[in-house]
Amino acid sequence: MTQRHSFTENHMPLSDCRMIELPKIHDPRGNLSFIEGQRHVPFDIQRIYYLYDVPGGSDRGAHAHKELQQFIVAMSGSFDVVLHDGDRERRFHLNRSYSGLYVCPMMWRYLDNFSSGAVCLVLASAHYDESDYIRDHATFKTMASQGAVRS
Ligand code: TYD
Repeated sequence: MTQRHSFTENHMPLSDCRMIELPKIHDPRGNLSFIEGQRHVPFDIQRIYYLYDVPGGSDRGAHAHKELQQFIVAMSGSFDVVLHDGDRERRFHLNRSYSGLYVCPMMWRYLDNFSSGAVCLVLASAHYDESDYIRDHATFKTMASQGAVRS
């Protein structure tokens, strides 16, 4: 059973969120990449979901997770992921199917700038749990500042 931590124990700096290059097996028949939990991403993969048919101009996300770790890949097309740790913000442009963005807990995030036909694949460290979401930005700011002080 996965051990549960409080969000303060999970407080990680924005610099821990990073692009990770995936293995790429070049082949004239078509390239192949793969992702193994605890090897290419620093967590066990419990869930996969994906965004597709995203209309131009749409924003997704706009929330944080207390404990969830995620790895985001642009399987097709491109989009931006904006991360904010309550203090600093960083924008990542994702447009490769052989690299992805590791998002640690307690990061406010939104996704925008979707190209037409973009497919956003997300690997997650836990099953869907609405109680892990922080959907109010002011609440996130308060919790992030408390976590930063205590950690
Ligand atoms: P949400 O995570 O809020 O999407 P986004 O941040 O991209 O706008 O999820 C949208 C809806 O989908 C919400 O009602 C919860 C549901 N959902 C699931 O049921 N399971 C899942 O794994 C995910 C990611 C969302």
